[in-house]
Amino acid sequence: MAQEECKMISDKLLKYKGTVLTVNDNQDITPEYIDSIQDFETRDDDVFVVTFPKSGTVWTQRIMTLIYEEDFPEKAKQITYEQMPWIEYRDKGKDYSTRPSPRLFCSHLLEPLMPRALQRKGKVIYVMRNPKDVMVSYFHFSNKLDNLDSSESYDEMLKKFITGCMVGGCWFDHVKGWVTSKDKYNILILTYEEMIKDLRSVIVKICKFVGKNLSDAAIDKVVERTTFKQMKVDPVANYESLSKEITDQPKGAFLRKGTVGDWKNSLTVAQSECVDRVLEDRMKDVPLNLVWDIT
Ligand code: A3P
Repeated sequence: MAQEECKMISDKLLKYKGTVLTVNDNQDITPEYIDSIQDFETRDDDVFVVTFPKSGTVWTQRIMTLIYEEDFPEKAKQITYEQMPWIEYRDKGKDYSTRPSPRLFCSHLLEPLMPRALQRKGKVIYVMRNPKDVMVSYFHFSNKLDNLDSSESYDEMLKKFITGCMVGGCWFDHVKGWVTSKDKYNILILTYEEMIKDLRSVIVKICKFVGKNLSDAAIDKVVERTTFKQMKVDPVANYESLSKEITDQPKGAFLRKGTVGDWKNSLTVAQSECVDRVLEDRMKDVPLNLVWDIT
């Protein structure tokens, strides 16, 4: 393994082939395991929700586990993570290859690190969000969690965001990689903003994409249970039920404001223009109309 490909970028974060992961004693976070993910055998009915952190991962994860609710045993229903684990954060001793179908996974991995078989078997739901809102959300999240690098200011956060020194790596590489590779996959690309604008339509779109035939009443129920207000007080949805055993996350860390454009309350004009310049430069070849406001 090339030395520069793998390094601790702080005492909490490991960078490997462009992705950045938190290190946790309970999990196999090693270059060997990350490399082995590329050889993971997927199945036709696997679904991977892929996001850059703070783009609506837990929200989409909750929507998916409710759409698939009847496929899971009663006990697993109490733990979202059990129904839909992150493929790169595998608990020691777990073997994802033997999970019964249908298998749901989350991931923050860059496109080249994903299972190659996913290009033939299985589906991807890729969710993106306005990078400025991602950055502000991560700023608050990382300042709450002990296992992440906190930032004292938005200038410090901006530097990490642009250089990819945060969980997930570099937002620009992540989005560009997935969007420009979209034709290789059976993929549904969504935005956080469209979920905010019309949650029901997005849930209907997801059901159609994964081939789940839910009644109108069942869809209404998924919508009701995945509103911000509802998820905030649902210990299964907001990971509160896990806080002691698996994560160190303080109560409510995954659900903060749940709005579009909160960056306007936090970033200066200069910071916002800096993101605009990098966006223009790094994303000019991306075949996607990146509009983040709700119209
Ligand atoms: P904010 O920090 O801007 O509030 P992730 O799950 O990828 O870490 O993303 C977290 C972001 O998604 C947080 O954004 C969180 O509040 C928002 N979120 C989670 N559930 C949501 C919901 N049901 N509705 C709207 N936003 C939600």
